[in-house]
Amino acid sequence: MTTPPPARPAPSPHFKVPIRALEAEHCPAITEHLLQLGPRDRYLRFGYAASDDHIRRYVAHLDFERDEVFGIFNRQLRLIAMAHLAYLTPQAALTEQAPGPAEPPEGMAEFGVSVNHHARGRGYGMQLFRRAVVHARNHGVQQLYIHALTENMAMLAIARKGGATVVQDGSESQAHLRLPPADFESQVSEMLDEQVARTDYHFKVQTRYLWYLLRRALGLPDRRDKDTRPV
Ligand SMILES: CC(C)(COP(=O)(O)OP(=O)(O)OC[C@H]1O[C@@H](n2cnc3c(N)ncnc32)[C@H](O)[C@@H]1OP(=O)(O)O)[C@@H](O)C(=O)NCCC(=O)NCCS
Repeated sequence: MTTPPPARPAPSPHFKVPIRALEAEHCPAITEHLLQLGPRDRYLRFGYAASDDHIRRYVAHLDFERDEVFGIFNRQLRLIAMAHLAYLTPQAALTEQAPGPAEPPEGMAEFGVSVNHHARGRGYGMQLFRRAVVHARNHGVQQLYIHALTENMAMLAIARKGGATVVQDGSESQAHLRLPPADFESQVSEMLDEQVARTDYHFKVQTRYLWYLLRRALGLPDRRDKDTRPV
């Protein structure tokens, strides 16, 4: 008897959006995105009432060499959603392991995400999760971990839909997802997704610059309005 292949998460009905890896040069955009989160969203994202100073410190301490940060930009090059995949140290991995028989520490990473209020419900959170999963697999991570408040229905829905096991502990919940090893498909799909996202980003940079030149040639003021249109 042959073993059935592992179940794949159901495909999202949402339009696939370009998601690119962020670098240190995007820190101002990351800060702007996180500062736009209201008090409740900051609490849900960080697990405490993060002040503006906390957020600035969090961004200043992002380690782009060790961790991975992903982002979705709109047409005005505003960062409207981001995810942070933080690789856990062996010590931190020991404390975050799923309850059960003690296992030696292994490749673990923690996933955190935020989507601007106006851009929610379009599947961006789920797509960032899927992108992080593929990246984590390709970098030898065996277990993905999410810490969320039990009331955070959207985050827990993303985790469950992504195949994670959610363990509730009162007002807090831990989600764990055991990842299969990287394969040819995971490596090629990450490479293609990153290429498409970078091309999309550079296209937006060029378009924005052309508009800037055109407006300057016509003597119109530089437009730096808060564009909330989708990507
Ligand atoms: C959690 C968060 C990232 C979700 O972002 P999003 O882009 O709106 O999520 P998605 O559109 O991908 O929704 C994913 C799934 O969650 C479910 N969902 C979304 N909002 C929900 C809600 N309020 N209640 C129950 N389920 C919900 C939907 O079923 C959706 O699946 P679908 O694609 O079949 O409709 C966003 O709400 C956020 O930034 N919150 C503040 C920060 C935070 O809580 N971060 C998580 C802790 S790390």
